[in-house]
Amino acid sequence: MKRIISLLTLFVIGCEKNIESDYIGYDCDEVISYYQESVAPILSNHCVGCHSGSSASGSLALDSFDGAVIGIMNGNVIHRINMETSNPLFMPLGSEKLSQQQLDIIQNFSELLCQ
Ligand code: HEC
Repeated sequence: MKRIISLLTLFVIGCEKNIESDYIGYDCDEVISYYQESVAPILSNHCVGCHSGSSASGSLALDSFDGAVIGIMNGNVIHRINMETSNPLFMPLGSEKLSQQQLDIIQNFSELLCQ
C-alpha cells in the first residue's frame, strides 16, 4: 500500500511539474487515470523492454509518466508507431504494428495532453 501511495505521489508531482513548464493546460486527474488505465499497459507490453532506465534505447524511457508524456508530446512516439512496418524507424522495433485500438488510445492521450 505504501508503495502505491508513493507511486501515486510521483505521478501527481510529474503531472504538476509538466504543467508548470507552461506548454500544457491539461486536467491532471483525467490525464493520470487515462495514463494508468490505458496508456501504461500498452507501453509496458510493447515498448518498455527496450525503453526503460538509464540505458533506454534512443534515450527514451517509456516506463514513467514523464517519459511517456515527453515522447508523446514531442510527437516522436506517434510518428514512429504509425509508420509502415517496413520503415527501419518503425516502432515497436521488430514487432507487429500496434492494433488500431492501441494506436487510438495513444492518439487520444496526446489530445488530452495538448488540449
Ligand atoms: C526491440 C527493442 C525496441 C522496442 C520493443 C521498441 N523500441 Fe523504440 N527504439 C529502439 C531503438 C534501438 C531505438 C533507437 C534507434 C532509432 O531511433 O530508431 C528506438 C527509438 C525510438 C524512438 C526515437 C527516440 C526519440 O526520442 O525520438 C521512439 C519515439 C520510440 N523508439 C518509440 C517506441 C515505442 C512507442 C515503442 C512501443 C510501441 C517502442 N519504441 C518499442 C528499440 C525498441
